[in-house]
Amino acid sequence: MENERNKLPIGVFDSGIGGISVLAEIIKILPCEEFAYFADILHSPYGTKQEDVVRSLSLKAAEFLSLVGVKSLVVACNTATSVAINDIRRTYPFPVIGMEPALKPAMELGLTGKILVMATPLTLSSKKFSALAHHYKHRAEIVPLPCVGLVEIVERGYLSGQKIEAYLSHVFSTVNKEDISAIVLGCTHYVLIKKEIVNVVGDKITIIDGNCGTARHAGSVLQKEGLLNGAIAEKPHIPLRAKVSFYISGNESEVITRCKQVLQNEGIICE
Ligand code: DGL
Repeated sequence: MENERNKLPIGVFDSGIGGISVLAEIIKILPCEEFAYFADILHSPYGTKQEDVVRSLSLKAAEFLSLVGVKSLVVACNTATSVAINDIRRTYPFPVIGMEPALKPAMELGLTGKILVMATPLTLSSKKFSALAHHYKHRAEIVPLPCVGLVEIVERGYLSGQKIEAYLSHVFSTVNKEDISAIVLGCTHYVLIKKEIVNVVGDKITIIDGNCGTARHAGSVLQKEGLLNGAIAEKPHIPLRAKVSFYISGNESEVITRCKQVLQNEGIICE
């Protein structure tokens, strides 16, 4: 019985392709697991919508994956986590892992200078982010940088090139880069364009994301709950073969091809 339950997939969802950056790290740590990935393309982006709308969309995404039959759920979206994680946890009996902008790891680096947080407007205006920023405000100045429109560019498949460069140059033209010691990528879509961000801000600024931390946390939660289907990998053995079932709202099936391509860039081949 327990064995059957442990064979169930881990559900992962995001408004679109961004959560694939998290899924890649989870697959590296948990190579024996199966996954069910849901991209809510029809309602993307989440980050410029009203809080109650995103809460309801997130609950529907969780419901969809619970009906697929998952043993746990990773909300691979900072925006959905910031407004809906408590409601999702209250609704489902399985472990639910969320994400937040990686301010804790940024502080642990002990850098001097401001910490810039790139995220969606909804994440940055949420109570959850205010509480997080308040918690660390005595350790560094935290500067929020809402990036309206960036998720849409990434969703259209522009992970490098002129469109992304132009957007980033524009958004960073108002920022004094000399003051910034680190940039926290508080949206899983932005992790997919990390190289482009480095190209624009330079390599003196440390770029931090929460993906590896979330993957490790997911591994330890599943271990603690006795839900693993195999051992946690200390080191990923690339290339990896992964069993991922993809689900999307709407009918843009090329999104699935893009998701698989992003995983392949990380050395992960989907079976
Ligand atoms: N990947 C989501 C996040 O981490 C993007 C939200 C959106 O769709 O705007 O916040």
